[in-house]
Amino acid sequence: MVSRVIPVDPFDLVIFGATGDLARRKILPGLFRRFCSGQIPRDSQIIGAARGDHDADEFREIVAQAVHEFGGDRACEDGTLEEFLQRVDYVAVDARGDKGWSELASKVRKDLVNAFYFSVGPSLFGDLAERLHSYDMADDESRIVVEKPFGRDLGTAKALNKTLAKHFDETQIYRIDHYLGKETVQNLMAVRFGNMLFEPLWNSQYVDHIQITVAETVGVGGRGEYYDKSGAMRDMVQNHLMQLLCLIAMEPPAKFDPDAVRDEKLKVIRALEPVMPHHIVRGQYGAGPDQPDYRTHVEDQSSKTESFVAMRVEISNWRWAGTPFYLRTGKRLKARTSEITVVFKDAPHSIFGADAGRHRNELRIRLQPNEGMTLDVTIKEPGPGGMRLVDVPLDMSFAEALGPESEDVPDAYERLIMDVIRGNQTLFMRGDEVEAAWAWTDPIIEGWHARGEVPKPYDSGSEGPTDAIAMIARDGRIWREIKR
Ligand code: BG6
Repeated sequence: MVSRVIPVDPFDLVIFGATGDLARRKILPGLFRRFCSGQIPRDSQIIGAARGDHDADEFREIVAQAVHEFGGDRACEDGTLEEFLQRVDYVAVDARGDKGWSELASKVRKDLVNAFYFSVGPSLFGDLAERLHSYDMADDESRIVVEKPFGRDLGTAKALNKTLAKHFDETQIYRIDHYLGKETVQNLMAVRFGNMLFEPLWNSQYVDHIQITVAETVGVGGRGEYYDKSGAMRDMVQNHLMQLLCLIAMEPPAKFDPDAVRDEKLKVIRALEPVMPHHIVRGQYGAGPDQPDYRTHVEDQSSKTESFVAMRVEISNWRWAGTPFYLRTGKRLKARTSEITVVFKDAPHSIFGADAGRHRNELRIRLQPNEGMTLDVTIKEPGPGGMRLVDVPLDMSFAEALGPESEDVPDAYERLIMDVIRGNQTLFMRGDEVEAAWAWTDPIIEGWHARGEVPKPYDSGSEGPTDAIAMIARDGRIWREIKR
């Protein structure tokens, strides 16, 4: 099955922070892949902007290296990179001064779609927005793209929203949560709202509980300084896990359009109950084979920042009252896997008697890797000897079901950047959504500080602290094993 590539309109994209890590790893290789696929028109222009005094050729060299290093050139014809690089330019700008801005303004063609990607720390957002405005680059049609973290609490997020709102309308602001750009995350909506089968059962009457796990094997690596000020709660739960929770729990929007979808997500966030301290476990990873422990990684032997969180979350609305959601995420865990498991309730009455045992349907949606879906169905165990029941998986890997081309789908950043150019905000967070997520997160973090809580240690390569297992066990439930 070949996916259709619909070219976008010609555009000028300015990337601030164009020589930084995110640009080199994701944005530039992603743009190149879209160019290879024919989605980017030849008369588009990508302008790198950063502090460094490079000329355009030096920047092109940086782009070429990024493309080679981070996989941008897979399945691309020879010569395409040179063609792509001809569309790449560079201007050295000072975000807080005047250097470079007039030159940048002279290069941006106002008769095309203009997008400005702020791949820089949030402390520069205001300066960039202001200069885009004063150098007459921003008009009603321009778009700005901002990265997470969008603030570190409600106060800072509100201040950022206010700063951006001085020069840009909400319809021009694209707040990226790259999880929303993942193919299988969007598939959650397709599975829920494209099938008749699931939606009637998708509520507390039929669902016992839902688990959302985003497990990573990597540690904090070279990002210790940032991470130690954030922790798993700010780095993953407030945004990525919250988005997954919204998509799995929201009401069907009337249509697949930006505000209809985001209105429904916002209602979920606003219906979240405060989390009780005994419903949340924080962890910090210990050393592994040839790997230092968390505190060594972040160079602070007294760090109280969590690299793991497990929590029980409740949504107070008609659909979900009484069905807990268990969320779990952490670094240096046993396997890299992101998975959502919907555990249905027992059948109300077993006609097969107590000997048949307890059987439950479980729907597992694997977001990464090996994207797919499995539904456990109870059937009769074959053979003589009475009615013995057994649970068997109806297992579908999207790659197998849809063919090899399905593996060559755009990655999250590629898709999201193309959505910016198209002007489609469905997969971006709205300002009120981000603020609501912080309003729920803040008291949890404040509670930890007020109580002076220290995260529980866990072994590198494990499933997290044993307290997390005990937390769900108190409810008579167990976590799904973390495995690929
Ligand atoms: C980022 C976090 O937003 O998401 C990282 O800052 C995390 O800490 C990453 O590793 C996970 O993304 P993915 O796409 O690898 O699941």
